[in-house]
Amino acid sequence: MASQYETEHSVFLCFRIVFSCFFIYHSFLSTTNLVLAQTPVYACDVANNPGLANFTFCNTSLDVKKRVHDLVKRLTLQEKIANLVNGAAGASRLGVPKYQWWSEALHGVSYVGPGVHFSNSLVPGATSFPQVLLTAASFNESLFEIIGKVVSTEARAMYNVGLAGLTYWSPNINIFRDPRWGRGHETPGEDPLLTSKYGASYVRGLQQRDDGDKDRLKVAACCKHYTAYDLDNWKGIQRYTFNALVTQQDLDDTFQPPFKSCVLDGNVASVMCSYNQVNGKPTCGDPDLLAGIIRGKWNLNGYIVTDCDSLDVIFYNQHYTKTAEETVALSLNAGLDLNCGTFLAKNTESAVNKGLVNESVIDRALSNNFATLMRLGFFDGDPRKQLYGNLGPKDVCTPENQELAREAARQGIVLLKNSVGSLPLSPPAIKSLAVIGPNAQATYTMLANYEGSPCKYVSPMQGLSASVSTVFQAGCSNVACGTAQVDDAKKTAAAADAVVLVMGSDQSIETESRDRVDITLPGQQSLLISEVANVSKGPVILVIMSGGGWDVQFAKDNPKITSILWVGFPGEAGGAALADVIFGLHNPSGRLPMTWYPQSYVEKVSMTDMNMRPNPATGYPGRTYRFYKGETVFSFGDGLSYSTFQHSLVQAPKVVSIPLEEGHVCRSAKCKSIDAVEQSCNNLGFNVHLRVKNMGNKSGTHTVLLFSSPPSVHNAPQKHLLDFQKLHLTAQTEGLVKFNVDVCKHLSIVDELGNRKVALGKHVLHVGNLKHSLTVRI
Ligand SMILES: *[C@@H]1O[C@H](CO)[C@@H](O)[C@H](O)[C@H]1NC(C)=O
Ligand SMILES: *[C@@H]1O[C@H](CO)[C@@H](O)[C@H](O)[C@H]1NC(C)=O
Ligand SMILES: *[C@@H]1O[C@H](CO)[C@@H](O)[C@H](O)[C@H]1NC(C)=O
Ligand SMILES: *[C@@H]1O[C@H](CO)[C@@H](O)[C@H](O)[C@H]1NC(C)=O
Ligand SMILES: *[C@@H]1O[C@H](CO)[C@@H](O)[C@H](O)[C@H]1NC(C)=O
Ligand SMILES: *[C@@H]1O[C@H](CO)[C@@H](O)[C@H](O)[C@H]1NC(C)=O
Repeated sequence: MASQYETEHSVFLCFRIVFSCFFIYHSFLSTTNLVLAQTPVYACDVANNPGLANFTFCNTSLDVKKRVHDLVKRLTLQEKIANLVNGAAGASRLGVPKYQWWSEALHGVSYVGPGVHFSNSLVPGATSFPQVLLTAASFNESLFEIIGKVVSTEARAMYNVGLAGLTYWSPNINIFRDPRWGRGHETPGEDPLLTSKYGASYVRGLQQRDDGDKDRLKVAACCKHYTAYDLDNWKGIQRYTFNALVTQQDLDDTFQPPFKSCVLDGNVASVMCSYNQVNGKPTCGDPDLLAGIIRGKWNLNGYIVTDCDSLDVIFYNQHYTKTAEETVALSLNAGLDLNCGTFLAKNTESAVNKGLVNESVIDRALSNNFATLMRLGFFDGDPRKQLYGNLGPKDVCTPENQELAREAARQGIVLLKNSVGSLPLSPPAIKSLAVIGPNAQATYTMLANYEGSPCKYVSPMQGLSASVSTVFQAGCSNVACGTAQVDDAKKTAAAADAVVLVMGSDQSIETESRDRVDITLPGQQSLLISEVANVSKGPVILVIMSGGGWDVQFAKDNPKITSILWVGFPGEAGGAALADVIFGLHNPSGRLPMTWYPQSYVEKVSMTDMNMRPNPATGYPGRTYRFYKGETVFSFGDGLSYSTFQHSLVQAPKVVSIPLEEGHVCRSAKCKSIDAVEQSCNNLGFNVHLRVKNMGNKSGTHTVLLFSSPPSVHNAPQKHLLDFQKLHLTAQTEGLVKFNVDVCKHLSIVDELGNRKVALGKHVLHVGNLKHSLTVRI
């Protein structure tokens, strides 16, 4: 129950540390019972205030641009400035109410951010989907979009009763480049393509309206944190002062593509700039990154917002600017539109007075902000009379939505090891189950961060107990597992037909402001696992509930540990989904969206080293499956099924020729690659058709990952994901998977200067063990 949870966890979120004192934002849990809002906040309430009807900005038959222009023109400088921050003042004399821009919906409507309130009497909870990394493991683009759609429906329903905003600062599409990062689980993983597809799909799910009106928004999403932000707090190095040194090649090849796709393919309404610096410049004050790329090259239709509060950080933590006014000028002139925090409200007027900022720049920022609200219908009068006006508390936590949370967890769960005769357990043979571990009774832990109050929980114990008689032992008092209670756990395990160990971490180990130092299981967890396995007489299932990956080589190697499952942070229905997989009601098809490295990796690699590519001169091994060649515990894309699937190639070319126009330099000179933007490249594609056969006796879904190893020019990745697809096959049947590969889009790589190139020569396509060589020539 949500109410139970609320009294148990008075959650305090510490967003940032400035001047060495804590700036603590208290989420609304303790006051939630006082929140009795019933009506939404909106402007242009013509029905109750007919005088507003004559304002052009309230005229719904005019285009957004005209309306915004009219509104901005009516405001005084002071009113304008008061609307540059997340707690926007509105303009009451014009019937524009205050608006709270900051709401969050990373994997469900969240109470992190002052725009959302849960209320026991109206909306006590919202559907809490798995944390993003687990959803990403499903490699199912339609799932990503459907979740976004359900979340935006619940968000609109809550907005209609005054409990939520219209602007959501989700998703987080940073690249999970290092397993220690405490926020890695908020992201779709380490691969730029998967991250791009996740971001664009989730954004579409949140934003797209059912009436197909592309100019208007259901809710507004925000892709964050732009850019190269993926260190929080590692050995005392803080994100607020971290200067990410990134090569142009890594920036354009790894860190920028998800943002580009979010803007161009997802049509996102906002981008958030990060706290950190990139190559010596704070991102929220870098005109090349903001006005140049997001606005200029990608043509963002929406607003650019700071993290909370990046401007404070630029001035007080980074000491990048000499005065507060310079900070204002730096950011607004660079293309920033909205400040999460109060910095712009406090310091913009004096910046204008000092001649550092022109009012026209403020007008531009405001126009981007107001245009977004207009597209959301905020200036169209009572939202209950518009599309989505009928949504209300009855549309939150519906049985269908809760079932989707369970389905998403099922689709994401990754089977990493399975000895013959282990999973799935069959209740007739397994009459008693020992359920052991500090996460066996997890409830709140399953949600991870940027959570909301869930509809309800199904813990692993509850899920497993529904099918078979279970005995529980915590084994450790918490996930830190200082001293394991080995003897009790062994006794329980020895007496049972099978053992499920639910281990891993929680937000005391992996969360915002908390990076790991080691990637071995915490405290005595490994000891407990090995000891329990040693005395067990039947299958031993190790379940790892966590954000990032771990060095669990000991468990992989131990024949007594018969299965290993990674369940991420599986959301409110995680325990039910786990039971579905363990008892074979669902045949797993999830694949790891990130590499699981050995502990030696983190001992060798500094978290601050942003280079993706290895450096033979220093022994630096590089990062992610695209560049790292060393040993792994588990690899990107790993994941088993209860069936086996066989691939065979049906169709793929052996040679692809790129036509070059007369006089092209590569017609006379020898070229290693050609530009991926040239005319010759347009619409040059080919098909790869594969036959997939389910060789097993169980129906199952198979995830087909199509990789390519390009020729080794321009420091190209050893391998990169071109595309992925899933197909469902009943036992002993086969199906066809068709990929359409665009030579310039999919096969291209990024060169040392950040330009997209198609390498000439041999590209090797891989699907599982199947390999096919393809020569690209001119
Ligand atoms: C709107 O403007 C017209 C013309 O200026 C005026 O006659 C009318 O009274 C105004 N309506 C309202 C509701 O103020
Ligand atoms: C709204 O704009 C339309 C189109 O210009 C105009 O015909 C109409 O009179 C306007 N409505 C009001 C109330 O001003
Ligand atoms: C992807 O997810 C959706 C939504 O749950 C589901 O309907 C669909 O079957 C999934 N696709 C595959 C191939 O499993
Ligand atoms: C303000 O605008 C004027 C006129 O366009 C321009 O000359 C001046 O440089 C601008 N000031 C700043 C701080 O951008
Ligand atoms: C496993 O148990 C046996 C006794 O049954 C013991 O000799 C052995 O040391 C144990 N191994 C581990 C790894 O605990
Ligand atoms: C499938 O079932 C048949 C008949 O029951 C059996 O002979 C065969 O070994 C099974 N195959 C697998 C892969 O389990």
